Amino acid sequence: MTGILENEFSTTEFAEMKLDNRFVLAPMTRVSADPDGCANELMADHYERYAKGGFGLLITEGTYLDKDASQGYANQPGIADVPQTEAWEPIVKRVHDAGAKIILQLMHAGAQMQYNRFTETPIGVSEQQPKGNPLGLYGDQENWYDVKPMDEHEFDQVMNAFVAAVKRAHEAGFDGVELHAANGYLLNEFLSTHFNDRKDQWGGGIEERAKFILMLVKAARSSVPDDFSIGIRLSQITITDSDYQLPEGEEGFEWLVKELKKAGVSFIHTTDNDVNRKSLKDGDRSLAQVVRDVGVPLIINGGITEDNYEELGEEYPDALMALAKKALANPDFVKRVKGNDEVKDLDFEMLQPVANIENELKWREQNAD
Ligand SMILES: Cc1cc2nc3c(=O)[nH]c(=O)nc-3n(C[C@H](O)[C@H](O)[C@H](O)COP(=O)(O)O)c2cc1C
Repeated sequence: MTGILENEFSTTEFAEMKLDNRFVLAPMTRVSADPDGCANELMADHYERYAKGGFGLLITEGTYLDKDASQGYANQPGIADVPQTEAWEPIVKRVHDAGAKIILQLMHAGAQMQYNRFTETPIGVSEQQPKGNPLGLYGDQENWYDVKPMDEHEFDQVMNAFVAAVKRAHEAGFDGVELHAANGYLLNEFLSTHFNDRKDQWGGGIEERAKFILMLVKAARSSVPDDFSIGIRLSQITITDSDYQLPEGEEGFEWLVKELKKAGVSFIHTTDNDVNRKSLKDGDRSLAQVVRDVGVPLIINGGITEDNYEELGEEYPDALMALAKKALANPDFVKRVKGNDEVKDLDFEMLQPVANIENELKWREQNAD
């Protein structure tokens, strides 16, 4: 057992980074930026708490990339211009000073847009809206907006916007970016046959549906120095559809992972309800197991706790482990498990009525022990 413990808590080389340990703060939307999309002091305190709490790597909340249709939520941070970029710099510095690395998650909301201060028309891969209802946790919105299917000009615009945002993330001092291709946002919609029924070059089999993402990884890779990480987050499920499966199943997913590797991705971050859920059609491996077997640097996520991290650490000896709900409940999760201290469960009241940092802090004040 001691060997495993040393492995999880000791320094590790991962992608282009040297990390203090294998624990990662998973990306969490906190809708706490200024209304103009600038990150602020409250967010700096928030991220610094996790760095001081022992997480080796932090992945930020999904951040929008342009002043068109990428913003998804009110008070979501952006990196769409110089002021927004500069607003991230003190956060990066405070996290670095506390000894952790920090990666920016880049997110285009696509059809899942709930609020956007530049437009009321989301762009998507088709007219298809997400299943279910918008998330109250991220602001009031009763119904999904009508979606405009992207035309060729918009494919170029989105590609350029992503690449420009990657460069700005590099300028702001981040250690890398994570392209958000999970949970039903635009890049995930390209892959999903629920959304993507296009008959042109961007639709059809997995090769066509993955084309934009593979082009994006290559373009992003060549736009910044080699020591800057370009990762991607992948899921089948979305925030409102926990059953979706790629029709190409395990074989198709394995193909995608191999192509991403060829395209030069620094890491793949899988997310599912549970790290080891055998969720792929016609397969007996989880998303994480496929990535591990192909041999791409891997971040696992989904249901990791104080009770299973050792077992998972053994099963995925080279992977990082990303935690969301447990981290939110215990910003010092890493210190706690290391010291054998009590680890709490998340009380969802902390995120009510909206999942912002202000409500979290109020909850903490009321529930201080
Ligand atoms: C409040 C909240 C906000 C989230 N926001 C994001 C996000 O911005 N980007 C993302 O990829 N996942 C987001 N997620 C999903 C988490 O990163 C994670 O995949 C999920 O909670 C499962 O991991 P867990 O079992 O450790 O909580 C969010 C989750 C929560 C609870």
